Amino acid sequence: MDDKILIILGSPRKKGNSAILTNKLSEGAVELGADVESVYLNGLDIKPCQGCEKCQEETFSGCAIEDDMNQLYLKLQEAKSIVIASPIYWFNISAQTKIFIDRLYAVGVGSKNIFKGKNIGIILTFADPDPFISGAVNALRSFQDICRYLGANITGMVYGSANKAGEIKNNYAVMEKALMLGRDLAQRMTIV
Ligand SMILES: Cc1cc2nc3c(=O)[nH]c(=O)nc-3n(C[C@H](O)[C@H](O)[C@H](O)COP(=O)(O)O)c2cc1C
Repeated sequence: MDDKILIILGSPRKKGNSAILTNKLSEGAVELGADVESVYLNGLDIKPCQGCEKCQEETFSGCAIEDDMNQLYLKLQEAKSIVIASPIYWFNISAQTKIFIDRLYAVGVGSKNIFKGKNIGIILTFADPDPFISGAVNALRSFQDICRYLGANITGMVYGSANKAGEIKNNYAVMEKALMLGRDLAQRMTIV
C-alpha cells in the first residue's frame, strides 16, 4: 500500500492546464513502474471545515463531517507521494483546493499527522506570465509553509503560465519539468 502516487486535482476543468501537467507527471511516473491515481475534487462532496475541533479529540479519528473526504483520507494515508495541482484563482489556489486543504486539519496535526515523511509535488497554472503578478508565488509559499508544518518533503514544484485550456502544451519546458517530477517521485518509491 506504500507505493502509490495520489494526484489531487483542484481545477474544475478536467482537460485544463493543470490537469495536462498532471497527465505528463503521471506519464513519467508510470514509465518507471509507479502506481498513480488521480482524484478530481470538483464535483466531490467536500464541505468546508466547520472548526468544531472534534478531530482534535484524542479518541476521535477522522472528521465529524461525513462526506467524500472520508474516502480521501484513506487514499492520502495509503499514498507514499501526493501531488496537488491547482489553477491560480484570484492570486491563490482554487476554492476546491483550499477547502480540501482545510479538511486536512483532521489528519495533519500532532500524533494524527499522516503526512510526515511523504513526498509532495505541487503543480500550478496561471494566466499572467509573471509568477509574482499572477499570485502563484502566494500559493507556492503557502505550500512551503504547509509542508514544513506537516513534516512532508516537497520533491518539486512545477508551475507555468497558460490561459485557455490546453495552452500549457505549448510550454515545452514546463511539460518536461512535469515529466521529470513524475520520474523523480517514482524513483522515490519502493518498486518491486
Ligand atoms: C475565477 C478565475 C480567477 C483567475 N485568477 C487568476 C489570477 O489571479 N492570476 C492569474 O495569473 N490567472 C488567473 N486566472 C487564470 C487561470 O489561472 C488560468 O487560466 C489557468 O491556466 C487555469 O488552469 P486550469 O486550466 O488547470 O484550470 C483565473 C481564472 C479564473 C477562471
